[in-house]
Amino acid sequence: MGFHTSSRCVIISMTISTFILAAIFSCIALSHASPEYALTIVEDVGDDSNLEAVVENEEMQDPEDQEIFYPTREWQVVKPGQAVPAGLHIRLNLQTGSNEAKLLEEDNGRNHHKQVHKSTSVSDRYTAEELKEALAKFKEGNENVNPTEETDYKQEIKRRFKPIGELKKEFEQMNIKVETDFEIMTKIINRFNTSLSTVAEKVNALYDLEYYVHQVDNAQNLLKLGGLQLLINHLNSTEPLLVEHSAFVIGSALASNPKVQVEAYEAGALQKLLMVLAAEKPVSVKKKTLYALSSMLRQFPYAQQQFMKLGGLQILKDFFRGKNAESLYVRVVTLLYDLVMEKMLLYKDNNTQQIQEKQEQYKKIQLLEAIIEQGWCPIISDLLRLPENDAREKVLKSISLLMPSCRAEFQKDLNLQTILDSLRKEYEDLDADEKKSGEQDGYFNELLNLTNSVITNLNESLNGK
Ligand SMILES: *[C@@H]1O[C@H](CO)[C@@H](O)[C@H](O)[C@H]1NC(C)=O
Ligand SMILES: *[C@@H]1O[C@H](CO)[C@@H](O)[C@H](O)[C@H]1NC(C)=O
Ligand SMILES: *[C@@H]1O[C@H](CO)[C@@H](O)[C@H](O)[C@H]1NC(C)=O
Ligand SMILES: *[C@@H]1O[C@H](CO)[C@@H](O)[C@H](O)[C@H]1NC(C)=O
Ligand SMILES: *[C@@H]1O[C@H](CO)[C@@H](O)[C@H](O)[C@H]1NC(C)=O
Repeated sequence: MGFHTSSRCVIISMTISTFILAAIFSCIALSHASPEYALTIVEDVGDDSNLEAVVENEEMQDPEDQEIFYPTREWQVVKPGQAVPAGLHIRLNLQTGSNEAKLLEEDNGRNHHKQVHKSTSVSDRYTAEELKEALAKFKEGNENVNPTEETDYKQEIKRRFKPIGELKKEFEQMNIKVETDFEIMTKIINRFNTSLSTVAEKVNALYDLEYYVHQVDNAQNLLKLGGLQLLINHLNSTEPLLVEHSAFVIGSALASNPKVQVEAYEAGALQKLLMVLAAEKPVSVKKKTLYALSSMLRQFPYAQQQFMKLGGLQILKDFFRGKNAESLYVRVVTLLYDLVMEKMLLYKDNNTQQIQEKQEQYKKIQLLEAIIEQGWCPIISDLLRLPENDAREKVLKSISLLMPSCRAEFQKDLNLQTILDSLRKEYEDLDADEKKSGEQDGYFNELLNLTNSVITNLNESLNGK
């Protein structure tokens, strides 16, 4: 296994595969590559440690920035699959397992104009221990990516990389023992469950576990190993870090996994999640708990019904009275919007018996009605002030959804009209720029349409009165 450097284009990548702990340092020629995609220098970093800055990056990035790496003078992590422009200084950081890159410094002549290194085999350059170490840490750099981006990301990685069988062979040649995910997860859970571990070690185990449970089979392994119950028990831990990271693993294990959703529900997870959300806790804890709650509720009408009965909507509404909880607002609105849409979409086509049965279940969930009754309309429209476009997009969509019932209330809010007008101007300009650069139905065009439709919808009935 070596670097197959092509003069035209190289991407360094690294992945952990489904069944085995596997490292692949592979350079893939992009078929549509242009000459500016080239690797300049590769070096490993044994002890260097100016990397804290690159690991902690709390808020998610604009998804549009995912594909291309924007270099600065500081080392930054290159994500798998990212295209790296030419002329950069690139290194593999063995402490984090990430590739990092930065701009070359003009006057630091050492090494910089060295040619692309000859195809040295990775195994010549790093020991198996170092590789495993790097892999164990690989996950950490990605942990702030939001769940859907992360899933897309992993799928993208899988699509691009070699079949597992092939990887496995390469690893056997390197004498790295190939373990099954079940074995690995058993060890991780033991690391988490032993009283000998410090909180930091437990958190670390949870990071590792979170990676595995994205796989449907592994989420079920978590059940078999008694891990799910163990995590649910930790939701009332007095150590906020353990609550936070247990919720994170639970969220990922439940996502799109009905069997695990049901088990978690039966083990009392919903009540515990709501208790965490209702208590005084750091926002970071609430964020992950909200993630777990979303995973619990989506496509699970029975849990949604219980959520309503347990006063879950009110608990979420209380966030809006708290301080420093801004980063939760859009997440809450997104969850509610998605749940309302989930029901609505179901009523769009009712051909099969299966859908009709589902409709019966959803009939009992009067979420939209409760949202209106409990006075969410002004809370939601107020969020249009947020500066981020993706937040505004969610809010505009939610306002549209609520319009039939909340119109009168929206109309009374003169601020809302002012904000909508200024958004329209802003998006008209951005849309014009976007069109100039040759994009017809681009993102800002969509936002402009959305804004216009809210304005029209709001105004139409004014005129109709
Ligand atoms: C965790 O540890 C306790 C006590 O050591 C043990 O009884 C329990 O079975 C362990 N749980 C799991 C899921 O391994
Ligand atoms: C969490 O609550 C359960 C009962 O609901 C209790 O058995 C357990 O000891 C509690 N755990 C902690 C860490 O307080
Ligand atoms: C689906 O069924 C409901 C009544 O159960 C009906 O009101 C609705 O019009 C139907 N939708 C379609 C697309 O047939
Ligand atoms: C926005 O609306 C215009 C006019 O109705 C339409 O042609 C265009 O496709 C819409 N843009 C998007 C992104 O849907
Ligand atoms: C809304 O309707 C009023 C009254 O017809 C009109 O004066 C106003 O310009 C309209 N506003 C927008 C943004 O279309």
